[in-house]
Amino acid sequence: MLLFKTAAALKSHLSSLDQKARLGLVPTMGALHRGHAALVERAFRENDFVVVSIFVNPTQFDNENDLNNYPQTLEPDMELLKEISKDIMIFAPTVAEIYSNKVAAKTYDFEGLDRVMEGAFRSDHFNGVGTIVETLLRMVAPDKAYFGEKDFQQLQIVKNLVASQQLPVTIVGCPIVRESSGLALSSRNERLSKTLRKEASFIYKTLVTAKKKFGTKSAKEIMQWVSEQFKAHPLLELEYIEIADSETLTPILKKQQNRKYRAFVAVYAEDVRLIDNIALN
Ligand code: PAJ
Repeated sequence: MLLFKTAAALKSHLSSLDQKARLGLVPTMGALHRGHAALVERAFRENDFVVVSIFVNPTQFDNENDLNNYPQTLEPDMELLKEISKDIMIFAPTVAEIYSNKVAAKTYDFEGLDRVMEGAFRSDHFNGVGTIVETLLRMVAPDKAYFGEKDFQQLQIVKNLVASQQLPVTIVGCPIVRESSGLALSSRNERLSKTLRKEASFIYKTLVTAKKKFGTKSAKEIMQWVSEQFKAHPLLELEYIEIADSETLTPILKKQQNRKYRAFVAVYAEDVRLIDNIALN
């Protein structure tokens, strides 16, 4: 397994490979779990070589505390990746390597995709995500890059970024990996107490019932129903429930036959913020 700390070292190695070989990139912030592993496994199935980047990107955090508490676990991350393949290239740069001496995000026009849901609740978050993803895509120049539907809004924003910056890469969206309870895997789950972790499985159960209701009830009725369900579960605090068009992410006004919709939630379990989403049709 190869570990690169600088873009120069990574690029030099990449240029020594067969230039016809297919290259996949999986961007992560580390603290890896089976959700990340599924992306890496898919990248291996579809490419000859895979780069996994591990970088806790400061410009996408709107909360200093959250950034400082983000787990940094390079050793166990490398162990997990080694189990998938010994041929993985890990790119784990420093903040200075990525940002030189100016740790700041670019400003993008994401055509409104960043004004709803996560964007509305986390100011400037997506400019930070756009900045690091664009930087990594330019440094690594992969044929395909892999992102999870767990962060569905991020996935749509990355697709928009790649189109607007005309980057020659295919963005691949991968399904959400869940615990057997239904809770979407996240490095933040580790911070939940046993009781809260059990309680948090209610999030997915509610989304599944919302999906069942989508055939017969209006979006407004479903959103109201979801809000009421959470009121009966005081350990969980619903920040938002949104039903939106899967492509444009605009909140649904009236169902249209030819459009795909998803339900999105953000929930606090004490101070741990969890997000999840589900395809409704
Ligand atoms: P991170 O939270 O580490 O997630 C890395 C990738 O793993 C993202 O594409 C995310 O959607 C995916 N992922 C996380 N949990 C998942 C799950 N349960 N099932 C499927 N995929 C899952 O997302 C980021 O990092 C950062 O914003 C990044 C894109 C790396 C930019 O800094």
